[in-house]
Amino acid sequence: MKRFLPISLVMLLAGWFSETRAQHAEQASRWADSLLSRMTVEEKIGQMTLIDLGVVAKGKPCALELPQAIDNDKLRMALQRYHVGNILNTGCGSGAMTLENWRRIIRTIQEENQAINRHGISILYGIDAIHGANYTLGSTLFPQQLAQAASWNPELVERVNRASAYETRAAGIPWNFSPVLDLGRQPLWSRFFETYGEDVYLATTMGQAAIRGLQGESLSSPYSVAACLKHFAGYSMPLSGKDRTPAWIPERELREYFLPPFAAAFNAGAATTMINSGDISGTPVHVDSFMLQQVLRREMGFKGLAVTDWEDIYKLSDIHRVAANRKEAVRMAIEAGIDMSMTPNDFQFNDLLLDLVKEGRIPESRLDVSVKRILLLKRQLGLFEQTTFADSFYTAVGSEAHRKLSYDAAVASITLLKNENNTLPLENTRQRWAICGPGAHSMHLLNGAWSRSWQGTDTTYRHEGRKTIAQAMQDNLGDQLRVLPAFPDATQLKKTMRAADGIIVCLAEKPGTEIPCNIDALDLPADQKKLVADALAIGKPVVLVCTFNRPLIITEEVEKAAAVLYTYLPGDEGGRATADILSGKASPGGRLPFTYPRSSGDIVHYDRKHTENMYSDFSANGYRPLFDFAHGLSYLTHVAYAVKVSDSVLNDSNFIQLQFTVLHSGSLSGQLTVPVYYSRAYASITPPVKKLIRFVTVEREPGHSNQTFAFALRKSDFSFINRRMERVSEPGPVTLYIGDFTKQITIR
Ligand code: GLC
Repeated sequence: MKRFLPISLVMLLAGWFSETRAQHAEQASRWADSLLSRMTVEEKIGQMTLIDLGVVAKGKPCALELPQAIDNDKLRMALQRYHVGNILNTGCGSGAMTLENWRRIIRTIQEENQAINRHGISILYGIDAIHGANYTLGSTLFPQQLAQAASWNPELVERVNRASAYETRAAGIPWNFSPVLDLGRQPLWSRFFETYGEDVYLATTMGQAAIRGLQGESLSSPYSVAACLKHFAGYSMPLSGKDRTPAWIPERELREYFLPPFAAAFNAGAATTMINSGDISGTPVHVDSFMLQQVLRREMGFKGLAVTDWEDIYKLSDIHRVAANRKEAVRMAIEAGIDMSMTPNDFQFNDLLLDLVKEGRIPESRLDVSVKRILLLKRQLGLFEQTTFADSFYTAVGSEAHRKLSYDAAVASITLLKNENNTLPLENTRQRWAICGPGAHSMHLLNGAWSRSWQGTDTTYRHEGRKTIAQAMQDNLGDQLRVLPAFPDATQLKKTMRAADGIIVCLAEKPGTEIPCNIDALDLPADQKKLVADALAIGKPVVLVCTFNRPLIITEEVEKAAAVLYTYLPGDEGGRATADILSGKASPGGRLPFTYPRSSGDIVHYDRKHTENMYSDFSANGYRPLFDFAHGLSYLTHVAYAVKVSDSVLNDSNFIQLQFTVLHSGSLSGQLTVPVYYSRAYASITPPVKKLIRFVTVEREPGHSNQTFAFALRKSDFSFINRRMERVSEPGPVTLYIGDFTKQITIR
């Protein structure tokens, strides 16, 4: 019999906790003020400086000796003359290194710093560990963010981030430049795969899960890292689709779509944020006090550290041209609210800021605001007590358990888009299949950028025991499978297909991120288009496997293919996960976290407006995606039914309970997702045709079962941003959609 604490005791405990937390915060604040009072201006500026490892490593910048090693003279100069407080990454993108080498480097830096820094302020080391501790050789590489979003499984995303945090901190690195909370609504953008997709609610839910995973219960835990929400904000919507080019986002759209995932993640306790390199409607965010003070600090209440992105203070004068020179750029960025400069390759920032303080153009008190945030973060991370933990704390880096988690995440993400006549799964059909395509024989294409190197382009990348799609298919189908080269010649293809019942064509997109991965159109590369056309011309079933960063246009190919599997960038276990789904050992769990366009010029999102819907005979406006948002087929069958709604009127003081049952049946285990949408009949701002408001994802064991779910929906769940930039939930009729079920309610 469960016993509950009396409400009075709960209230008392809650009050005690909040008072204790306030006392701790007050104590920490006094501690930081005391330390600040003993610091020189130069030391404060050093704490506001983040340099790349390459500045203190052996070799020339961006041509380091490998494996990376510390150049003690360079390190001493950075610490003694510039009092640098923070270092990042692997040295000018020079790539991953072993865990042992990371530990050697981090311990050398921390020990040298302890000998030099007269206040005992440790170095804060930061890195991009965006789908595992990618820059540590042998670490677990998980599916990239867009794939994780496709799992619609926040609990799984939390576990993936917990394992990433573990393997990152194992190297002595307590700060992870992750997650990306930019909304994926511009599929041309080179970093689309780094987002959680196009929907605010899905991205918000996944972002909160990532924060829970990365930061855990305490930042000082040996298994936690400080998260870094990026890139605040509006970075993912460049008008041209090209990285770091102007985003034309009116304030209402900014508040409706691009800010909520950040606000929710800050509320979930995110410790730091990285600022968008681009501009919003002509104002670079790095000088935008509206964004950095009004929105970030006053509205969102964020009290943590705001760090620039790469060299973004210099770019204010060099690229954006909003500052006459770099000194003016430093003044503008610090005045706007930047706390730390990812400079990252020199000390000009330090010299310029020192001049500005000496000239009285930046008051020292302004530096104190930023340095206090940095000191408090280092204190929360436990860096004043212990900078690294014994190697024995970390026995699970690259472990079987983490590997299994990566595999499960890939299976839960991979999305079955088409399956004509139940072509899939292949196993037990005793058919003979061929496999080819660039994605069939590659490990680096399964991972994409931000893997063992920045752009992820190392075609020789291998990871002991991890399999390509072709290798894993060979394990599953044995002599039923003929493995062809990526691009077999026509004769070889025809000859093989005479003895085969069908062919699997594994398509892939070259890895890359940021400006180097800009494209002019979402077209599938010509050689892959031809490969699919040749395969289709043979007249036997063609199964397409798509390992893309973004939704490349495959409309013609899909219409003729028998089945289509979209893997996103599924990580190191993606070969095995894809093969197990193709051959029926696992059921694909994913659903699209974006709307799949039919052509490059037809980018319309599921939460489109009614003017984007087909109406009357102007069908050219019509919303006709290749595949809809949340589309995903499964080998399990399920239906949501018996939906009950506790009330049909919603007002400021009540809530509606929505209850429904999911019936599942199938011979495989796997997960099922049921999205819940709503639409408004009308509103003061054009309402979306439909909008995601909740979803449930259940993991099912084989057999028949059903499970009932209940959600509380409040009036605020139906809110939007009106013309006066207020978040409102206007009265009026609303329709709820769950599967094929609809229910009318009225908001009062
Ligand atoms: C890059 C990226 C950012 C990353 C940073 C450090 O330019 O924009 O996402 O965290 O530099 O590598």
